[in-house]
Amino acid sequence: MDINSLHSLTDCAVLANGVKIPCIGYGTWQTPDGEIAENCVKNAIEAGYRHIDTAFAYGNEQSVGRGIKRSGVKREDLFITTKHWVTERGYAKTVAAAETSLQNLGLDYLDLYLVHWPCVSKISPDWEEINLDTWRGFEKMVKDGKIRAIGVSNYQPKHLEILLNNAEIKPMVNQLEFHPGYIQLENVLYAQSHGMLVECWSPLGNGAILSDERLKNIAAKYSKSVAQLCIRFALQNGVLPIPKSTNADRMKANAEVFDFEISADDMDTLKNLPVFGFSNFLPEDAPADALANE
Ligand code: A2P
Repeated sequence: MDINSLHSLTDCAVLANGVKIPCIGYGTWQTPDGEIAENCVKNAIEAGYRHIDTAFAYGNEQSVGRGIKRSGVKREDLFITTKHWVTERGYAKTVAAAETSLQNLGLDYLDLYLVHWPCVSKISPDWEEINLDTWRGFEKMVKDGKIRAIGVSNYQPKHLEILLNNAEIKPMVNQLEFHPGYIQLENVLYAQSHGMLVECWSPLGNGAILSDERLKNIAAKYSKSVAQLCIRFALQNGVLPIPKSTNADRMKANAEVFDFEISADDMDTLKNLPVFGFSNFLPEDAPADALANE
């Protein structure tokens, strides 16, 4: 992702297969299902977002789909991502899960489908084979024309290696937690060096880092909010941010990040802050209902 080519929400990064992806996504994690999610998505599209990110596990795909419809923006002008959940691993279940998400969203195709969490050795000794079987389901959906691009989320190099060594279609995206205070640089650089676009969830540390005095001081230098500083920080690291806000004014403000540049010194400071605001979500401590899969 070339930061110099980005000037608005409609400017795009390009995935390994040539698919264009708008440079800031609108996140819907923790957005309550129903009218709130529906209105948020409609408002976000009205505010200029063209990239919407949801997941089966967020429990709001149907409302997100209604918000998309109500926006009136043409399908081909939007980029829609959803994620496969941990209970649906394996080839056949994965294909069925993708179809269910399409139905929930009321769409004919997805722009991007992500594996939400890798299967790990703590869950099954066959974790590598399980991850590959799931991935084969993803590849089938691409071949059937139902998904334009596929990727993963929360994958570390050891989880990616098995896909990179065996997959017919390599993962094009890895979506990771990334914000000042938790940048997991090794994982970011590994994915980027293997041709993946890194996206980030919780670019604002899920709101928890926004009152940090160190961040406030840096943001003030640019007359920007901490949220804007964090979103720009992701972009300047070549990482595609997916901020979430349920508030229409904050949605708009979060997109005003193309009129300033964080200096190299401040980027250095932001990258090297000690860990804070970390969610404590790690693949090895996969969500509890991953166990229901076994
Ligand atoms: P709200 O939805 O009320 O705006 P993340 O994207 O890192 O997961 O962070 C999401 C959290 O940050 C939400 O609690 C959201 O609250 C809050 N948030 C999003 N944008 C802003 C902003 N510009 N200023 C303050 N809080 C924000």
